[in-house]
Parts: sequence; C-alpha cells; structure tokens
Amino acid sequence: MQANPSWHLSPSNHTLCIAEANRKRSSHTTLIHKNFTMSSLATLQKLALRARQAAHAPYSRFQVGAALEAKNGEIFTGCNVENLSFGLTLCAERTAVVSAVAAGARAFRRILIVADSREPIAPCGACRQVLAEFACDMEVISVNLQGKKYRTKLSLLLPRAKVGILDKPCST
Ligand code: THU
Repeated sequence: MQANPSWHLSPSNHTLCIAEANRKRSSHTTLIHKNFTMSSLATLQKLALRARQAAHAPYSRFQVGAALEAKNGEIFTGCNVENLSFGLTLCAERTAVVSAVAAGARAFRRILIVADSREPIAPCGACRQVLAEFACDMEVISVNLQGKKYRTKLSLLLPRAKVGILDKPCST
C-alpha cells in the first residue's frame, strides 16, 4: 500500500494481480502485511470504510464495510452486495470471508465492521455462522461513522457454534 511503506505485496502472482487491480481502482480488496503483527484498529477501520464505499446497496441504502484480519497479518475487506432477489444479498462480513478464503487464508484474528448507524451494528446470524466456520474465538469490532465502538467475541455472539457437529472443535 503506497500510504504505508510497511505494507508489502505477497510474492504470489495471484495476490500481486489483486494488488495491481486494487491500485488501478484505488480500492483495496486485499492488503498484505508480512510481518505477522497486528494492524492498528485505525488501519482496520480505514480499510473497512474504504470497502464500504464499494457497497452495492440500492435497495436498503445501508452501506456496510468490513476488514477481516488473518492471523498472519493479511487483511481482506468486504462490502454488502445486495440483490433484487433480496434473499441473495451478501453482507459485508461474508464477502470479506469469501474473499479471504479464495485467496488462501483460513485463520482469522478479528473483523471490524463499519456502518452508518446510531449504534454499532452486530453481524447477522448467517454471518456469525460463516465466521465461526473459520474462527469461533475471533474478535468482532463494530464501529459507526461517529466512531462509537462495540468490541466482543464471536463466541459470545454465537456460543457453542460447532458443538456435536462432525466432531469439530470450538465449543465455546
Ligand atoms: N448488512 C451487512 O452487510 N452486515 C451486517 O452486519 C448487517 C447488515 C447489510 C445487509 C443488507 O445489504 C443491509 O446491510 C441491510 O440489512
């Protein structure tokens, strides 16, 4: 990322292509931070806000952005993508997860969500379940445009996400 010299591109062609495409569009779908450190909340918030601008929300007019941080420091962003067939709408959280998994990431540390709401929003049930597929213990941070924050854990939003199912771990 040009604004911050500590950001590096992944050596893989795939990610380089994404980064190149991002530069051209001046949006940031995927950014790679290679030194395994955590980004600041301010950085996550900035990326989520930028992603929010890409939201396709002609029906609700409620734009949401998300920044999903992988345990290796990579950050993947998402926005809500609505559909005329309303049930096909994808939330920002899920588009971030899909983008991350498609790029090879599986382990996540936290997700930050931004929307223009009086109270910071909470992920819908479907998104909680999709997030829990990869990290039941991830931190969930929600911020509104005034900067009001709500921080919690996915295990509190969706307790016992996988208990008893296919002998998967993650019982909180
Ligand atoms: N939405 C999200 O993207 N994330 C949330 O956490 C809550 C809701 C989207 C779905 C829909 O496009 C719009 O916000 C209104 O519900």
